[in-house]
Amino acid sequence: MSNNSEEQITKNVLDSMAQTPNPRLKQVMTSLITHLHAFIREVELTEDEWASGIQFLTSTGHMCNDKRQEFILLSDINGVTMLVDAINHRSADGATESTIFGPFYRSGAQELPMGATISKDGRGEPVVVTGCVLSTDETPIPNALLDVWETAENGLYEQQDPEQPDMNLRGKFRTDREGRYCFVGIKPVSYAIPEDGPVGQLLQALGRHPFRPAHIHLLISADGFASVTTHLFVKGDPYLDSDAVFGTKDSLIVDFIKHHSEEEAARYHVATPFYMVEYDFVLKRLGER
Ligand SMILES: [Fe+2]
Repeated sequence: MSNNSEEQITKNVLDSMAQTPNPRLKQVMTSLITHLHAFIREVELTEDEWASGIQFLTSTGHMCNDKRQEFILLSDINGVTMLVDAINHRSADGATESTIFGPFYRSGAQELPMGATISKDGRGEPVVVTGCVLSTDETPIPNALLDVWETAENGLYEQQDPEQPDMNLRGKFRTDREGRYCFVGIKPVSYAIPEDGPVGQLLQALGRHPFRPAHIHLLISADGFASVTTHLFVKGDPYLDSDAVFGTKDSLIVDFIKHHSEEEAARYHVATPFYMVEYDFVLKRLGER
C-alpha cells in the first residue's frame, strides 16, 4: 500500500502522535483527526472547497480584535458553544441553568449600589430586576456578585456603537445580607448578531436569520460556589424558538411585567411606565453535583 493512500494518511497522522506526553491532548487530537478525516472522505472535499475553508477561517481570524470575537460567534451559530455548555452542566438539581457567554462581555464594569441603573444615557424603557441569590438548599448567599450586560434599545452593545457612552448598560451588583439583589436595566430587544463578517455570510448562505431573542446577560459568582453564566429572556419574544445561537432555555424565560404606578416607580427611582422582573438565582456549592 502506498504510504499516501487515503486510509494510510489518517493512520500516519495518528501514529505520529503516539508519543504525545499529555494523555488528554492525545485523546482529543486523535479523535479530532479521526473525525476530520472521516468528514473529508464523506463529502469528498474538493481543492476549491478546501481553499474556501482556509480563506473562511483566515477571514474569521482577521475579524477578531479586542472588541470583536468572530470565532466565538462561529462556535455559537454552529451550536458548539451550547453543546459544550450542556456537557459541562448536566446535573438538574434546581441550580440556575447556564447559557451562552457570547462575544460581547467586557470585564471591568463598575460596581454599583443596590437598585442603581446600568443605563448611562437614560435611554430605553426601564426594567427593575430583583430577587435573591440562593444555594440549592435555599440558603441566601450574601455578597454574591452579579455582573450584568445588555444591548441598548437599538440592539447594539456599547462597543459596537460609537454613539453610546463607554461601558453603557454594564454593571456589577452585590447581594445584601439576605441574599437580595436589585438593579435597573432597560427592556431588552431582539437583536441581530453581527452580519458584516464571515459568520454573517455563512448564516446568509445557509438561509438562516441572524436574530437572538431579547435577553439580559448575567455572570453570577460567590465565594465557595460555582459561577453561572446565564441570561434572562423575555417571555413572548418571537425568536425564542429560533435563537441564532441556540441559547434559549425554558427556565430562563421570564415575564417582564409592565407597571404604570407612579408610586411604585418612585420607589425604584425610575420613570413610568416601567417593567419588573423577579427572579431568584440558585448556585451550586463548589464540588456539589
Ligand atoms: Fe447578548
